[in-house]
Amino acid sequence: MKQGAATARSNIALVKYWGKRQARLNLPAVGSLSITLDALATETTVRFDSAFESDDLVLDGERRPEQLERVSQCLDIMREMAGVSLHAHVASANNFPTAAGLASSASGFAALVAAANAALGLDLSERDLSILARRGSGSAARSIFGGFVEMYPGQDDDGLDSYAEPLLAAQDWPLEVIVAITAQGRKAVSSGSGMARSAASSPYYGQWVATHAQDMDVARSAIAARDFEALATVSERSCLKMHAAAMATTPPLIYWNGVTVECMHAVSAMRRRGVPVFFTIDAGPQLKAVCEPTAAAAVRSELAEMPGVIETLHTGLGPGVEATVSAP
Ligand code: DP6
Repeated sequence: MKQGAATARSNIALVKYWGKRQARLNLPAVGSLSITLDALATETTVRFDSAFESDDLVLDGERRPEQLERVSQCLDIMREMAGVSLHAHVASANNFPTAAGLASSASGFAALVAAANAALGLDLSERDLSILARRGSGSAARSIFGGFVEMYPGQDDDGLDSYAEPLLAAQDWPLEVIVAITAQGRKAVSSGSGMARSAASSPYYGQWVATHAQDMDVARSAIAARDFEALATVSERSCLKMHAAAMATTPPLIYWNGVTVECMHAVSAMRRRGVPVFFTIDAGPQLKAVCEPTAAAAVRSELAEMPGVIETLHTGLGPGVEATVSAP
């Protein structure tokens, strides 16, 4: 038996990924820039054993056969690299509500490839792990690293130039994030199928791709200069551009509910009052408010009091994936 374990954190993109340039290798059409979230972690154990007759996936204590295919595809690549044909049992646990759509695939696939790397003794570089995590989920490539992270779309057909790299360590600009949970339950349309539909039918998709690199440049400079206001402006613009492209899809993709919109207005009003905070929203109804540490308590209590906000989470920026080879 070969066994490995790893912990990875979730991340949220400030400059978003939406759209693929190639579906087979899951290559993004645009780059992205994210922050890794300390308090939203996934712990995964991978065991390869000749006694197993097939791969198996247990997520938060429940067998999840419907999610096994993407996991097995990732493991197949790694089994081939290691020259191993053993089946694997994967057990993964999130310390945050999976059903609330808080990017469990990002931390999940980052932890999976790091745990399998440890189990198989592959000794892969972080770049290789990022490329492998991308095959499972585009956003997972970023969760290999901590702090502020940039993902490159690359241009090669083999995808070897499409990986993430760290931009700035968490402690060098320790922003904090308040997550406002506005609805429970799994999202109706996954990011992957939503972006495919947007690419096929949204009249704004072409503009989204064409104007994306400029947002990346602005965000990179804002981070280098620790310019909160500049990062706030470009992050909200990228989020709203992504959602505009999604909404103009046929049939429409409206990921927000009324509470999401009220929270956006509340965050905008706080910033107008001089509070260093901005919002970002992925393909779901939860709002993430990114703020300077001095503002976190006030931002949290204001969002927690919004009618319809079910729960708030508070997190700082976290480290990259951490692997441990566990004894069989
Ligand atoms: C809106 O990484 O979930 O969260 O590559 O198909 O698994 P797949 O998509 P996924 O998409 C994330 C989209 C997003 C923006 C982002 O995280 O950059």
